[in-house]
Amino acid sequence: MHNIEQLVKDAAAEFARIDDAAQLEQAKARYLGKSGSLTELLKALGQLPAEERRSQGAAINRAKDSIEAALNERRETLRRAALSAQLAAEALDVTLPGRGRGRGGLHPATRTLERIEQLFRSIGFEVADGPEIETDWHNFTALNTPENHPARSMHDTFYLEESPGVTASGVLLRTHTSPVQIRYLQSHVAQYGHLAAMPEIRIIAPGRVYRVDSDATHSPMFHQVEGLMVGENVSFADLKGVMADFLRRFFESDDLEVRFRPSFFPFTEPSAEIDVAFMSGALEGRWLEIAGCGMVHPNVLANGGIDPERYTGFAFGMGPDRLTMLRYGIDDLRLFFDGDLRFLSQFR
Ligand code: DAH
Repeated sequence: MHNIEQLVKDAAAEFARIDDAAQLEQAKARYLGKSGSLTELLKALGQLPAEERRSQGAAINRAKDSIEAALNERRETLRRAALSAQLAAEALDVTLPGRGRGRGGLHPATRTLERIEQLFRSIGFEVADGPEIETDWHNFTALNTPENHPARSMHDTFYLEESPGVTASGVLLRTHTSPVQIRYLQSHVAQYGHLAAMPEIRIIAPGRVYRVDSDATHSPMFHQVEGLMVGENVSFADLKGVMADFLRRFFESDDLEVRFRPSFFPFTEPSAEIDVAFMSGALEGRWLEIAGCGMVHPNVLANGGIDPERYTGFAFGMGPDRLTMLRYGIDDLRLFFDGDLRFLSQFR
């Protein structure tokens, strides 16, 4: 009897010392296994006299229950401890800030367009828009560009093909933002033409344009910003003032030289090329062409529905990509459209 009680105590004490589930199962085998202490006692039952056998058998069964109970209790304790340890190890601090996604930034071309819009808005210009798929008439004819003009060659422009069900003759990807002039003039006349004095027109039209052209300084798609001011007594002096002031503000430089060089465009008369020169820095003293401009040709005003006897206007078309390159010192236009993050992330 004493022997059995001691065995139960020993087992309970041993289980309590064990902190490892596998070791606990090995300890179990020492008591309850095939040749465990309790099993040995059971085997020895046969040798006992009949009356002792019964009481001894009952005692061994109780001991077995006790040991199993102690074992199960310890198993449960270890299981809980293991779970707590795992929970502690894998704990998430839900109050930590998230990892987040990399923040994007505006493309340098977009930054320039926004800057140009902001500067022109500050002197009363609105931002106008037009389609990138344009009619031959808006892109050329209405802009006083004759049928035989070289800009109309297939080689210079992307023409849309006629396909079954689609009559696309005379439809192209616009080669410049100038057709927005026509569209805006027409809608302005439709809106205000009945008034005795038509409100002055002051717009810029930024957007994408297309040409068959590709090298370090030309891309088949690039940006332009068109400008148009039409009213009574709008003069070349207004054009010079607006553009010189804009360029100095854009480049944040008062000692920027701006020059108007006589040129030719079918849609303006007289026409000029606008050049700038920086008075310091790497490009010091070099004249750089950044825009075409002129007084709107009377035929263009008439095509837009405006009376050229009464109204005059100036227009300009500039390359904001060129301005971006100058402002940030970028030497290859293709970088703008390659989508290379090493380049783009510098503008975040
Ligand atoms: N549309 C011309 C081009 O793409 C640029 C231009 C020149 C626009 C003179 C104008 C202008 O409005 O007056 O080359």
